[in-house]
Amino acid sequence: MPVLAMRDLTRRYGSFLAVDSVSFAIEEGDILGYLGPNGSGKSTTVKMLTGLIEPTSGETLFRGRPVHADLTGYKRAIGYVPEEAQLYGFLTGWEYLKMVAVLRGLEPAVFKSKASALLEAFTLYPHRDAAITSYSKGMRQRIALISATMHDPDLLIRDEPFTGLDVTSSLVLRQVIERLAAAGKAIFFASPAIEVVERLRNRFVLLRQGRPIAAGSMTETLAQLGYSRLEDAFVQMAEETDTARTAAAIVDAIRSF
Ligand SMILES: Nc1ncnc2c1ncn2[C@@H]1O[C@H](COP(=O)(O)OP(=O)(O)OP(=O)(O)O)[C@@H](O)[C@H]1O
Ligand SMILES: [Mg+2]
Repeated sequence: MPVLAMRDLTRRYGSFLAVDSVSFAIEEGDILGYLGPNGSGKSTTVKMLTGLIEPTSGETLFRGRPVHADLTGYKRAIGYVPEEAQLYGFLTGWEYLKMVAVLRGLEPAVFKSKASALLEAFTLYPHRDAAITSYSKGMRQRIALISATMHDPDLLIRDEPFTGLDVTSSLVLRQVIERLAAAGKAIFFASPAIEVVERLRNRFVLLRQGRPIAAGSMTETLAQLGYSRLEDAFVQMAEETDTARTAAAIVDAIRSF
């Protein structure tokens, strides 16, 4: 039985179809990269997967059970960071992690040793007593990752986990994801970028205007789209394909008057 399964997941905003009948499953040890250009419906899917918004139709199953049957239990079981995380910027990194640990029901002693080790590994330990508002983008990404994984979840769901990370942190994250998968965890991540995902040995779903247009390994995905490079496929997937013309129009507009 897959860890996570989506069945015809669909979301409308008014009459606008943001996610159109997406179905896929993630097994233990699977990494699924959910890729697509800006506005293609990635975050909307993530929000449905994490129970933040309701699908218009379709459903998400966690180990075979509809997540809405026990949304609170599901949220506790999975690794995700609620968007409200940004509201807690007045807390220090340590206080924020402690709050998450309490919400997750982690023993104080377990929290202390885990948080210390994770902060150390993510080179955040010296900054643990500074307010999150003072953190850089990459530091916030890393603290978010710690808060999502501290309770050792079987399923990790992240929206753009690589955004804002420098080369080293990106490499570390990629290897962390691969090791977690090797340990049997299921991982779902959304990304609009290709460079960070190209070397991950995982499966992909390529999304265009809310619809999956290709899925499978990198080779399979490219074959379905008729390209040899993912970058070419991405350019074709975007709304505006003539990048030079777009850039010229933008500069013309900036320099007019
Ligand atoms: N709350 C909302 N109300 C109305 N439309 C929305 C809402 N949220 C998203 N949309 C629309 O749904 C579409 C998909 O948005 P979404 O945020 O899922 O895209 P995305 O793939 O995550 O893009 P990005 O790469 O820029 O993060 C967009 O056209 C967006 O305008
Ligand atoms: Mg998004």
